[in-house]
Amino acid sequence: MEISQNIILVGLMGSGKTTIGRLLARRLERPFYDSDQEIEQRCGVRVRTIFDLEGEAGFRQREAATIADLLKGSGIVLATGGGAVLNPCNREQMKRHGWVVYLDVPVRVLYERTRNDQNRPLLQVADPIAKLEALRAERDPLYREVADFVLDGARHHSSNAVQRILKEWE
Ligand code: S3P
Repeated sequence: MEISQNIILVGLMGSGKTTIGRLLARRLERPFYDSDQEIEQRCGVRVRTIFDLEGEAGFRQREAATIADLLKGSGIVLATGGGAVLNPCNREQMKRHGWVVYLDVPVRVLYERTRNDQNRPLLQVADPIAKLEALRAERDPLYREVADFVLDGARHHSSNAVQRILKEWE
């Protein structure tokens, strides 16, 4: 694998992109970025506030600009927001500028990990499990389209997942 190739993590909310991305970056001694955290730093407010003020469409514009900026660099590990793959430009950027890992995790696990998080506006609904199932149905084909490697997240805990990804990468 080309040494400076970016590594990009995609998957639904709660799939472990940030946790695994941080660990991967530490192991590879690379800079780590999380597109949501980067957007929050640039705007000075939380993701949920951007959704409140500008709607999902406003957030998606900021997300696309941020991902395009981050992928101008090389040799980074990037955790993307779960909806980043909805935008064909983002998918194109990811495929062109990175090696992409899809963390495929069952809905029941995603729900357990996200149920107390107020900063995920799309899950502030009466039935978050049904919402996660709908998001999964819509996005799973898109995650697979961009992915160079699909990790079965149900079978791997974080450190284990990092080993598995590194094995595929090297
Ligand atoms: C979103 C996922 C979130 C964040 C925003 C929208 C989505 O990121 O970008 O709340 O559409 O799935 P995480 O996947 O890091 O939670």
